[in-house]
Order: sequence, then C-alpha cells, then structure tokens
Amino acid sequence: MLLELNDVHAAYGSTKVLNGVNLQVGEGSLVAMVGPNGAGKTTTLRTICGLLPILKGEIIFRGQRIDRMKSKDIVKAGISHCPEGRQIWPTMTVAEHLELGGYINSSTTCKSDIDRMYELFPILKERKKQLSGSLSGGEQQVLAVARALMSRPKLILFDEPSLGLSPKLVSEILMLVKKINAEEGVSVLLVEQNAKMALSIANDGYVLEKGFVTMRDKAEKLRNNDYVKKAYFGM
Ligand SMILES: Nc1ncnc2c1ncn2[C@@H]1O[C@H](COP(=O)(O)OP(=O)(O)OP(=O)(O)O)[C@@H](O)[C@H]1O
Ligand SMILES: [Mg+2]
Repeated sequence: MLLELNDVHAAYGSTKVLNGVNLQVGEGSLVAMVGPNGAGKTTTLRTICGLLPILKGEIIFRGQRIDRMKSKDIVKAGISHCPEGRQIWPTMTVAEHLELGGYINSSTTCKSDIDRMYELFPILKERKKQLSGSLSGGEQQVLAVARALMSRPKLILFDEPSLGLSPKLVSEILMLVKKINAEEGVSVLLVEQNAKMALSIANDGYVLEKGFVTMRDKAEKLRNNDYVKKAYFGM
C-alpha cells in the first residue's frame, strides 16, 4: 500500500470529527472519497498532510509513519495537497505560485519543472506574469493543480477540484485529474461532491459519513449501488 490510514481519530477542540477512519490508496491508483457536507472529508485530507494532529490511530505512507511529521516533511516524503477553495494568493503571479509549489526542490529542478507545467498547461504559460486573482475560476483551478504537481509528488490529495466550476469545466478538471494519474503516474486521493463523475474515473471508492467509512468497494460497484445512487447522485 502507498498510503494507509488505520483507525484515525481527529477533532477540532472538543468536537470530534474523525471517528476511526480506515482507508487505503494503492500505488498508482485513483481513489475517490464521497460523502455529505460535514462528514470529515476535508479533515481527513488535512490530517494526512499534517495540518491537523491525530488523536488516535496511524497514517503510513510508503512504509513510514507520517502522522507525527511536520507538513513540510510530508511534502518532501511525496504527498502534495490541492486544497479546498484552491487557496490561490491573488496578488502573486502564476509563475510565483509555481515557484512556491516547487520550493522543496533545487532552483534548477524547479525551473525545468515550471517549463514542464507550461507545456502541460499552455494556458498558464500565456498567463505566467498575470496576477492570480485576475484568473478565471477554471484557470485558478488549473494553477492549483499545477502548483501541487511542482513538488514531484507520489500522491496528490485533491479536495473538491471541481467546486464552483461550470458543468463543462467540471468534466475537464476531472479528466485532468485522471490524466495526471494515468499519464504522470501519480496516485490520487480525490474528494468530490460530484460523486458520480468521481466514481466514474476512480479505481476504488469510499463513502465517508459522520467521520466513519461506511462503504468501500471498487468504484464501479459503488457507482451502481442503489444507496449511493439515491444518496449521492440524486436519483
Ligand atoms: N477549523 C474548524 N474548527 C472547528 N470545526 C471545524 C473546523 N473545520 C471543520 N470543522 C467541522 O468539522 C466537521 C467536518 O468538516 P469537514 O470540512 O472535514 O467536512 P467535509 O466532509 O469536507 O464537508 P464539505 O463537503 O462541506 O466540504 C464539520 O462539522 C465542520 O463544521
Ligand atoms: Mg470539504
């Protein structure tokens, strides 16, 4: 297993949010996590990248326990986070964001990686000197994805990459997530409100409800499950 969460508990102050999460991401796989608002999906990703301490359990990445490590060391170990709401700094340029994403690598590596991002995402090349606050929502999302790739991760955690995008851009951004997994060889843990589409590009799927994993299966099976259809596809 690339990533393993065993019985992970976490809380904000006295509010318990994760009540024993068990989750696995295999090498090279794309895993989707769906669930209602407030279930703890974002919190799960935040605990993996060391932004929130866990109260109990363990998180193992490439055979190493990471649940006591600093965020910066977790990035160095190979995990990159593409956070909810994109977290783009409006007064920084596109190029500066990419530099920030590659800060753990040498400046030569970072420079050549930026050129690669411009090849992968020509829109960012066109806008490289533009302030990020003036990018469209879809362009900002592409920038957030490129920034996450800059640390050369083994695993990317995507938190609602399609949030706020038009239906056409939703499928474009999810295809981009799929492409990063299939062509760049990066494993993916994808949290999405857009459950049907997320489960259609994933290998495995999890349903998180009230801080527990209530279902886990091959994504295709979950996609055809009556409960999942009713609760998460609105059908
Ligand atoms: N910083 C915080 N302080 C206190 N409570 C928080 C904090 N962040 C989240 N919570 C609470 O933790 C619970 C889980 O939140 P979380 O953001 O993980 O949910 P989610 O599954 O990502 O939901 P959504 O689909 O709406 O993004 C919610 O009840 C939320 O109010
Ligand atoms: Mg969330």
